[in-house]
Amino acid sequence: MADTVTSTLIELDTSSSIWESFFTVFPLVVIGTRETDGSDDLAPKHLAMPMSWKNHFGFVCTPRHNTYQNIQRNRQFAVTYMRPSQTVLASLAATPRCADGSKPITQALPTFAAQSVNAPLLQDGYLFLECELQQIVDNLEENSLIIGRIKNARVAEDALRSSDRDDEDLVYSAPLLAYLYPGRFAEIASSNQLPLPAGFKR
Ligand SMILES: Cc1cc2nc3c(=O)[nH]c(=O)nc-3n(C[C@H](O)[C@H](O)[C@H](O)COP(=O)(O)O)c2cc1C
Repeated sequence: MADTVTSTLIELDTSSSIWESFFTVFPLVVIGTRETDGSDDLAPKHLAMPMSWKNHFGFVCTPRHNTYQNIQRNRQFAVTYMRPSQTVLASLAATPRCADGSKPITQALPTFAAQSVNAPLLQDGYLFLECELQQIVDNLEENSLIIGRIKNARVAEDALRSSDRDDEDLVYSAPLLAYLYPGRFAEIASSNQLPLPAGFKR
């Protein structure tokens, strides 16, 4: 078949980060860890997703962040999937540290303790994962990939899929938060069935 050009393609400079040149869709989660003094640490992450079809979760983090250092030391972390109403809370969790290295804002955020790991979760999210560290992949330039095995998972009742509830209604009544990197977000309340080929199997 002859090539058809549907739009003009712009070559991007791969000697620097390309991801600010267009929008892509990410989730927005808040990672909870325990600081050396026993206090909560919370930090938003969008480079985050399941790492297998089974129960592994991973996210990208820089070793400069306390989140990375806390996980390296304690080998555990908690994950809160945020709702569209929680963008301010997620952003506040990225407040820069004070000169003494403390991050007082985390003490003002509404948290509750995870059940099976020593880490905080954020109230009013819709999905809560408790992970033990499985592996850290370092040297992705200044970043690392942190992979955990999910030991405990809880989902808010209004976000739970069930055979007697239509998926479209579920997303409408418990909308999802999409982070459109860089710097925008969308509330997803409307969704459609993805067309799949006949006989499709995962
Ligand atoms: C919306 C948003 C998304 C972010 N996503 C990531 C991410 O995916 N990976 C990362 O390393 N930092 C990400 N950050 C930056 C940090 O999470 C942040 O700088 C944090 O305050 C580090 O805190 P800590 O020192 O307590 O770990 C994000 C910040 C914002 C505001």
